[in-house]
Amino acid sequence: EKGTYPHYMLKEIDEQPFVMRRIIQKYQDENGQLTIDPQIIQEVLNADRLYIIACGTSYHAGLVGKQLIEKWAKIPVEVHVASEFSYNMPLLSEKPLFIYISQSGETADSRAVLVQTNKLGYKAITITNVPGSTLSREADYTLLLHAGPEIAVASTKAYTAQIAVLAILAVTTAKAKGIELDFDLVKELAITANVMEMLCDAKEEMEKIAREYLAATRNCFFIGRAVDYYVCLEGALKLKEISYIQAEGFAGGELKHGTIALIEDGTPVIALATQEHVNLNIRGNVKEVVARGANPCIISMRGLETDEDRFVIPAVHPMLTPLVSVVPLQLIAYYAALHRGCDVDKPRNLAKSVTVE
Ligand code: M6R
Repeated sequence: EKGTYPHYMLKEIDEQPFVMRRIIQKYQDENGQLTIDPQIIQEVLNADRLYIIACGTSYHAGLVGKQLIEKWAKIPVEVHVASEFSYNMPLLSEKPLFIYISQSGETADSRAVLVQTNKLGYKAITITNVPGSTLSREADYTLLLHAGPEIAVASTKAYTAQIAVLAILAVTTAKAKGIELDFDLVKELAITANVMEMLCDAKEEMEKIAREYLAATRNCFFIGRAVDYYVCLEGALKLKEISYIQAEGFAGGELKHGTIALIEDGTPVIALATQEHVNLNIRGNVKEVVARGANPCIISMRGLETDEDRFVIPAVHPMLTPLVSVVPLQLIAYYAALHRGCDVDKPRNLAKSVTVE
C-alpha cells in the first residue's frame, strides 16, 4: 500500500534508511557481529574469481559490489550483463563462483545464465528480494535483501539493499580470510542510514534541481569517476526510464573521447564528486563541459566540496558513498518525471519484472 504517498517510487525511496537498518539487523548474530551462512563464505573462499550476473539496476549494484569485494575481501570479481553473458560466455577461471543479483528473482536473462552455469556444475548464489523466486530456487544459496515489496517499475530501495548485502558479504569474507579492516561496517551502515534520511528530507531542493535543469531539456549527462561513475550509470537509467529524457552516465575522463560533441549551450551535466582521489580530475572534467556551454550541477560530499557545488552530501565511508549519492539522483529523476507529466510508477514500454529473454 502506498498510503499517503502519491507514488510507490517516492515511498520506496523514503524507505531506504529503514531498509538499511533492517538489513543490519537481519545479518547480525546474537553478538551484534555481521554474519553470513558459513557455507556461502566457504564457497566464496573456494573460488578464485566471482562472476556477478545481473541486468539493469541490479547490474549497476553489481559494479559497486565488485569494488567492495575486490578492495575488502581481495577476490577478483567480474560483472556481466546477463543477456550478453549467455550468448557470449567469456573464458572462465578455474574455480568460478556465480552471484546472481535480481530484485524480483524472475528475470529471464539472468535465469538463462543460471541454467547454463548449473549445467556446467558451477555453484551459484542468488541475491534477491523475493524468497522462493525462480532464481532463488534454482541457485545453491540465497541472500535476501529484506527490502520489502518493490512495486514501482523504477528500482530504488532494491539497489541500495543489494549494495548493502554485497558490502556485508565482502566484509564477512575478509574476516574469514583474516584480513583486518579498519572500520566497523555495522557502524558505517548505520551512518549511511542516517545520511539517507537527511537526503530524503531534502526533497524540496531536489525538486528545485529537477525543475531548473531538466524541465525543458531533451538530454542530460551524468559524469563521475571511480565508484561515482557506477552511480552515474544508475542515475541516468533512473532518469531515462521514468522521464524519457535521453540520459547517459559517463566516466568523467571518457566524455572528451567523443560524447563531448553532444554538449551544447545549456546541456545539463550532473557530476558526482564523492571520491577524494579523483576529486580534482572530475572537477577538471566539469570545466571541460562548462567551456562548451554545459549547465553543471555538481553533487559532492562534505569535505570535498567547493563553492560551485549545487548540493553537498554529508560524509559517509568513502566506499559506501553509492548508498547515499544515489538518493539525490533517484529524487531528481522522480521530480523530473513528475514535472513532465509522466506516469512515474508505470513508465511506458516497461514491466516490473522482465520474464522474457
Ligand atoms: O528484478 P531484477 O533485479 O532482475 O530486474 C533487473 C532489471 O530489469 C531492473 O533493475 C530494471 O533495470 C529496472 N526497471 C531499473 O529501474
